[in-house]
This record gives sequence, structure tokens and C-alpha cells, in this order.
Amino acid sequence: MNDLVIQNIKELVLPKKTDKPLKGKALDELEIVENGTVVVKDGKIVYAGPHTEEYEAEETIDATGKVVSPSLVDAHTHLIHGGSREHEMSLKRQGASYLEILEQGGGILSTVESTRKASEDELFEKAEHDLLTMIHHGVLAVESKSGYGLDKENELKQLKVSNRLAEKYNLDMRHTFLGPHAVPKDAESNEAFLEEMINLLPEVKEYADFADIFCETGVFSIEESKRYMQEAKKHGFDVKIHADEIDPLGGLGLAIDEDAISADHLVASSDEDKKKLKDSETVAVLLPGTTFYLGKEEYADARGMLENDGAIAIATDYNPGSCVTNNLQMVMAIAALKLKLSPNEIWNAVTVNAAKAINVDAGTINEGDKANIVLWNAPNHEFVTYKYGVNHVDKVIKDGKVIVDRDLSLK
Ligand code: NIG
Ligand code: FE
Repeated sequence: MNDLVIQNIKELVLPKKTDKPLKGKALDELEIVENGTVVVKDGKIVYAGPHTEEYEAEETIDATGKVVSPSLVDAHTHLIHGGSREHEMSLKRQGASYLEILEQGGGILSTVESTRKASEDELFEKAEHDLLTMIHHGVLAVESKSGYGLDKENELKQLKVSNRLAEKYNLDMRHTFLGPHAVPKDAESNEAFLEEMINLLPEVKEYADFADIFCETGVFSIEESKRYMQEAKKHGFDVKIHADEIDPLGGLGLAIDEDAISADHLVASSDEDKKKLKDSETVAVLLPGTTFYLGKEEYADARGMLENDGAIAIATDYNPGSCVTNNLQMVMAIAALKLKLSPNEIWNAVTVNAAKAINVDAGTINEGDKANIVLWNAPNHEFVTYKYGVNHVDKVIKDGKVIVDRDLSLK
């Protein structure tokens, strides 16, 4: 006997299972089945496709008028952090830029202070709330970075919280060591601090899958980023980089040369570097929610990257300074408006390609896959990328069990 059948699905969204990230035109290819059925047994997908026969199951969900898809993947978050930075809003109103606030000891460094002050349990509780909010918005696979400790004790504290969350909720989480995220005010020099972070690599390996660095004016240079990435690879890490977020330093080209699993942000990447995407499997993780929140006019050139046959994914970059939302649906809508991506491209960018950017087996609901599924209160798949700022989730199903069932009736 099957455990669960979801039937009468108005639109069933079926991203293609592939070994490699979808590149260029392939990102626009997405199977949409009308009148679909999904069958689940023992937490796994038995069938997902057009309705062809009646299935018996312990539980049946009627998805009339709804969209059903794999659960989403958020491939770039700074989930674990102390405090918040609403006080920076007035600095921004007075015209201070993101890098100016950081240079004055605010920005990332202000979150470092709050994160150092918080106990592991306090950080856990705060991140747990944020993670549960993400799950309520349809996300079941998450990448989570450190980078607000900037010393051994506090970087490990963040990574431990991330690992504890993954274990408690049995989630597809990936943990990233982002020790070189900023240079502490009391550091002897950038180089000395970078060496300190490089020396931590063997110790944090137990808790982290990836190593990441913030390559930016006033933070870490291309040469420093290259050295860090090469050292991290020697210690068995796959590498990532915050690249070309504000200034065009060439981080995308470096990521491709170093065979990074992803290069993230890429707002200011050069045309020359974008061309290199063609012969690379590095996933360009674009974070349009950040560009929106930083109030920039120029967004990452997603269309140009796809024309160069690149692989792109979309993620939130959730953090307390440059993108304060952990609602990936909101960022999907910003991607539609500002990156000029099609609904098909966006769905693939937050499922299969996001999964490739963090090396998780997620984002598809083919036979044999984990039954991680979202039912959407939406008449078609385009609707989710069109109506922004609200939660379209009806139900979230994890390993075949309904874990979120949103009831809009009032108490
Ligand atoms: O990806 N730019 C570097 N890191 C984050 C922001 C972190 C923060 O402002 O606290 C980002 O945008
Ligand atoms: Fe980030």
C-alpha cells in the first residue's frame, strides 16, 4: 500500500534530474504536467507525472487548483548570526554606502560583535526560528555560512549551531566556513588575519563542507582569495567565493580558474569573465534580493551569463545587513523583475541548479527521490514568480510527511 497520493494537481512542476547544472538555454526547459499525480511510499517518490490511473494510499491529498513542485533549495545564506542592524537604516538614509559602514566598524563587524556575545544556545534559538520560517516558505535544503566569528572559538560556535540544526530537523544542509568575511579592527594586517583563517581550515573541516571568502575592495584581494582557495582545496574543501558584489575585481574569473563549486553575487563581473562560464561547471549564484536591498540600479547580468552558456542559480543571501529576507519566494519575484528571467528559468534556478551549487541531492521529484514536495496556493507556476512578498505555500511535505499545513482560517 502506498502512503500518500497527491492528485488533481493543476500544474506539476518537474525539474529535470541531471548530473551537471543546467546551462544556457537548458535552464528554460521545464516539464509542467497538467492534471498531475504524485505517489509516495516509505518517504520516497513512486510516481510523479500525468494522471493515468487510480492509486490506492493511506492518505490522499486533493490538489485541485494548486501547483505542486519539489521543495526549494536556498544555496546561499548567512543563517547563523547574532543581533540585527536596523540602526544602519538611518546611516543609509544619510547616504553611507555598504562598504563605508563596514569601514567605520559597522556592517559585518557589528554583527561579529553580536555573534561573539551570543551563546551557542542563543544563536541556535534565533537561527532555528529563521530556519523554520524558511521551511514554512517551501525550502528544505539550505546552505549556511559562518563568518561572524572571525576567530576560532566563534567560527566553530556558528558552525556547530548549523550542524545541530541539520541534525535536529534532518535537513539537507551544507555548512560553509567563511572565516575571511571581514578583517577585525584589531587585526595586525589583512595578510596576518588571512593566515590565521587558513590555519583554522583543518580544525573547521569536521563541521564544514565548503570554504568561502569575501573578495572585495577593502576586504580580501584577488591574490589573497586565490591563496585561500588553493589552501582550502588542499584540505579537501570545495570552494566558494563572494565575488564582484560591488567592485569588478575579477572574482568570477578566479572562481572559474580555481574550479569553485560556485561564485556568488557577480553584479560587477566583467564580460571577459562571463564568457569563461561557457567552459566551466562553476555555478553562478545570483542574489538579486541583495542588490534590491542595497538599493543598486545595476543587477547581475543573468541574461548575459545564460547567453554565454553559463549555469546560474538564485538564492536569498539571507543576512542581517545586505539582504534581510529569508523568503526565497520574494527573491524569485525580484529575479523575474530585475534579472529578466523566465518563470521556467527561475524554478530551475531555485531547485536543480541551486542543489548543484551546494552539492545536495535535492530539487527533483523523480521516481526514487526523497518525497520533499511543496503544494502551492497558486493557479500556475508563473504565479509564484509574479505575486511577490507573500507566502504562497499551502503544504510542505518532507520525506513523505506533511510538516507544514497552512490554515488561513482565523481562531
Ligand atoms: O553576501 N558581502 C558579504 N557578505 C554578505 C553580507 C553580510 C552582512 O552584511 O552582514 C553578503 O552580502
Ligand atoms: Fe553572502
